Amino acid sequence: MTSTGTAWVAPANEDQLRAWDTAEGVFWADQADLFEHSLQRYDDWLLRAAGIRDGDHVLDVGCGTGSTTRAAAWLAGSGTALGVDLSSPMLMAAARRARDTGVGNATYLQADAQVHSFEPTAYDVLLSRTGCTFFADPLAAFTNLARAVRPGGQVALLVWQAPSQNPWFTELTTALAAGRFAPTPPSGAPSPFAFADPARVADILIAAGFADPECEPVKESMYWGPDVRTAEAFVLGVLGWMLADADADTRTRAITNLRRTLVKHFTPGGVSFPSAAWLVTSRKPA
Ligand SMILES: C[S@@+](CC[C@H](N)C(=O)[O-])C[C@H]1O[C@@H](n2cnc3c(N)ncnc32)[C@H](O)[C@@H]1O
Repeated sequence: MTSTGTAWVAPANEDQLRAWDTAEGVFWADQADLFEHSLQRYDDWLLRAAGIRDGDHVLDVGCGTGSTTRAAAWLAGSGTALGVDLSSPMLMAAARRARDTGVGNATYLQADAQVHSFEPTAYDVLLSRTGCTFFADPLAAFTNLARAVRPGGQVALLVWQAPSQNPWFTELTTALAAGRFAPTPPSGAPSPFAFADPARVADILIAAGFADPECEPVKESMYWGPDVRTAEAFVLGVLGWMLADADADTRTRAITNLRRTLVKHFTPGGVSFPSAAWLVTSRKPA
């Protein structure tokens, strides 16, 4: 393990630290309202599956700017919620947002959840909203997290289904590719889609020490902004790396395609794309 001064990170997760703790994390922190809103329609599913009760201690993995940590803390009442993440800018935003909304029982920790020494059996509920698919070694990570969950504790994870089931990804990347090769994240490698295969997720959870894993398909719309202009800037913040090597012509075509795609998905409620996730539940054997 190596130290970054504030966080201990498994060497294989250093690329993730570099991404989330620098420019990408700053963009997420600056755009916290949009990012938190974008997946809001999934929150009820996730929180219901988490089954948080008054007095519970909740661990939110890859908490980002902390919307689910705040919601978990509110449900835990006299309990607590700890959000853990690699990204200091996102965690600073999370702490600020908890303070601003009067949530006093949420705390935040910069750490690599794959290797951090959590207090053993301290947590009643382990949850994550798209924050647990970036581990270089998911089995090591979930084995580590299993130690932190008390016997009988609950697991609720929201993870993306395959890119082919997620028009927000396929349509936006096809638009920005502008005829070039559109990226397909390699299955199983750390990425938003690393847990797209339910059989693999179940194998990881069982090998890590959890029981009865289930993956329920959930489809909700994903919000990208109140208008096309805001959505365009948001998309370019998230997927702008696709244009890093593009020449001026390609760039112009890509932006034109992007605007056309966003207009197609503009509704009175804003710009929204269909999306599909797995709601993964499991438990630590009692
Ligand atoms: C897609 S974002 C999701 C953020 C938040 N859960 C949400 O729904 O808005 C993924 C988050 O996982 C965090 N992350 C990635 N690898 C991690 C690791 N090894 N330990 C802790 N957090 C990690 C990133 O820093 C990032 O904030």
